[in-house]
Amino acid sequence: MDRLTLKRPDDWHLHLRDGPEMAAVLADTARRFARAIVMPNLNPPLTTTQQALDYRQRILAARPHGSDFEPLMTLYLTDDTPPEEIARAKLSGHVHGVKLYPAGATTHSGAGVTRISRCFHALERMQDLGLPLLVHGESTDPAVDVFDRERAFIEETLGPLMERFPALKVVLEHITTRDAVHYVEVTGPNLAATITAHHLLMNRNALFMGGIRPHHYCLPVLKREEHREALVEAATSGNPKFFLGTDSAPHPRGAKEAACGCAGIYTAHAGIELYAIAFEEAGALDKLEGFAAEFGARFYGLPGNRDRITLAREEWTVPARVAFGSGELVPLRAGETIPWKLI
Ligand code: DOR
Ligand code: ZN
Repeated sequence: MDRLTLKRPDDWHLHLRDGPEMAAVLADTARRFARAIVMPNLNPPLTTTQQALDYRQRILAARPHGSDFEPLMTLYLTDDTPPEEIARAKLSGHVHGVKLYPAGATTHSGAGVTRISRCFHALERMQDLGLPLLVHGESTDPAVDVFDRERAFIEETLGPLMERFPALKVVLEHITTRDAVHYVEVTGPNLAATITAHHLLMNRNALFMGGIRPHHYCLPVLKREEHREALVEAATSGNPKFFLGTDSAPHPRGAKEAACGCAGIYTAHAGIELYAIAFEEAGALDKLEGFAAEFGARFYGLPGNRDRITLAREEWTVPARVAFGSGELVPLRAGETIPWKLI
């Protein structure tokens, strides 16, 4: 197969940052995706509907000329998010989810949730209004091994939460383990999951190939090969509970190549092509369209995209660096070739 034509995909988990950094990365996403769920972990975080709407305007203004890319906004959940704010968010028509960052779990999560019980009133309102909860699913207990944090979160927090709010729509974001795949499979239709391209393509050995590799560091961290295999199986299964979310998370090069490097992998420059590689390796290119362009919209209750994109089997070399505001970033597979090209 030399050409692959798909309905235009959507990215159901994306970090765009703000200001000149956003302007630098937005075009990569807008070329490929019709819409993206945009994460609210700016500094300061987007805790109100008004902040999310203002951010939306800045994204719209930064779109490349002629682009009709649509940012789908999210709210950052805190211990103190009032139920009224949830209602405002839903009413705005532009906020499509509320993001739960356990406090301290990842980048800019300091204002996140310290105890989920503090959010019960907000969650109840979300359940009533059908506004999805988007979950960074990692335990923040320092005694839990970093590779076990997703499993611990599911057992200790998500499981009880789904029992308490049985009709709440939940997306378990960027899943990384067989345990998460299994939990999503056996739980009701109101629970779905996104999967990144980097977790489909790499296991934790990629963090230590001949030396420490800060550009492969993200959260949740890459896991063992058996977990990668479970993710590939889930993504290519045709089960609509699993859909595309790149978690493309740009950081300046210096913030990654540092004594304490930031978590996040930039993948938007090849946001659909990297998935095509993973699906082809699994012999499942025919399953890519559902995963990338249909299941997410269905879960969020949004219409499907009408236009299409085409990938040609044509090698191109990923640049070593990409301009990023006043600095630069290092994209995934920098300096290597990618066998699919967007035309
Ligand atoms: O690797 C990550 N980067 N994981 C996250 O949860 C946050 C993200 C970021 O914002 O950089
Ligand atoms: Zn993310």
